[in-house]
Amino acid sequence: MDRILVTGGTGYIGSHTVVELQQAGYKVVIIDNLSNSSRDVVDGIERITGVRPDFVEGDCTDMETLIKLFADYKDIKGIINFAASKAVGESVSKPILYYRNNLVTLLNLLELMDSNGVKGMVFSSSCTVYGEPDENPVTEKAPIKKATSPYGNTKQISEEIISDVINAGASFKSVILRYFNPVGAHPSAEIGELPNGVPQNLIPYLTQTAIGIRNELSVFGDDYDTPDGSCIRDYINVVDLAKAHVIAVERMLQDKSENKIEIFNLGTGQGVSVLELINVFEEATGVKVPHRIVGRRAGDIEKVWADPLYANEVLGWKATSTLADTMRSAWAWQKRLRERGIM
Ligand code: NAD
Ligand code: UFG
Repeated sequence: MDRILVTGGTGYIGSHTVVELQQAGYKVVIIDNLSNSSRDVVDGIERITGVRPDFVEGDCTDMETLIKLFADYKDIKGIINFAASKAVGESVSKPILYYRNNLVTLLNLLELMDSNGVKGMVFSSSCTVYGEPDENPVTEKAPIKKATSPYGNTKQISEEIISDVINAGASFKSVILRYFNPVGAHPSAEIGELPNGVPQNLIPYLTQTAIGIRNELSVFGDDYDTPDGSCIRDYINVVDLAKAHVIAVERMLQDKSENKIEIFNLGTGQGVSVLELINVFEEATGVKVPHRIVGRRAGDIEKVWADPLYANEVLGWKATSTLADTMRSAWAWQKRLRERGIM
């Protein structure tokens, strides 16, 4: 079987994808600088799959590190590029860090692909490229809106860079995946999301509140133009999301891509409000989440959910987990962190 290089493979989405790749029979080498994850994640992957992925601690912005990695692993046929800085708020205060990390990583990898015989790259993009969409659900044809943060801009620029490089005659292909809101954890509770410090995202804040680390969850606004006034998102189970990467890799490696660059939305197609999500969590787990409505968070999108039809039809991929199961998986992971004395 071919080897896949997974950058950022000890991170949240990367680790779940490494599990799915290994279970599909791929060999994996991870490179991660551990800026937002830990080496223990490799143990979790091994416990789930029975196979320890190769792990290189290194920074993708360092070309020499990547050159050595390709020299050591001559069988790499595909790359899944998760490595990036991803905190929207932090990107506003540290734009150079975000542009350098996210774009130099991408440029370095793209520069090395042809000379190392790599056939394709899966790139982690985001529904953030659609901004506040004119209509929901959002298809891949919806206009790209001006980015509201340097982080969002790195995703837009990255998509353009990939397109320019391939249109200039590179021989590899790319599948760009625009994730909606990835949530939940592996059903084994061996891996999951582990944000540094105070969580900025809804689900880790919610589970930390449910277990008593935080006093209450702030619901950012109930005066939006939505049925219950809170914002609407498309919450996609992280294992479902991970599976789409295996399909994307197969497409490129087995020459099934219809175009050299393909772009897919990865979402469920269901818009769920913040207040609805809290209810689903409480009903699924039987655990109450103390919460309070506060003012809007600057920069939040009112409502966005995916039209996943293109991915459903062309990739043959569909999100299948129920939101209740996904919430139970997030809760099981939070409890596992407690058992291990991590949180
Ligand atoms: P994460 O922070 O958990 O994982 C990213 C990993 O990359 C981390 O382990 C980090 O240590 C590593 N990393 C960062 N810079 C690196 C570098 N220069 N060299 C090597 N390793 C580096 O984030 P995630 O949620 O798993 O996100 C993965 C990708 O998906 C990112 O590109 C992110 O922008 C994108 N994305 C995430 C979401 C989301 O809500 N989680 C939504 C849309 C898109
Ligand atoms: N929210 C709260 N309270 C919180 C945290 C969040 O009410 O403590 C609300 C937000 O206002 C929003 C929803 O929960 O309505 C989801 O917020 P998240 O921060 O979890 O996610 P976002 O949709 O704001 O953004 C996330 C990632 C981005 C990514 C985007 C699209 O943080 O990096 O999804 O993929 F670009």
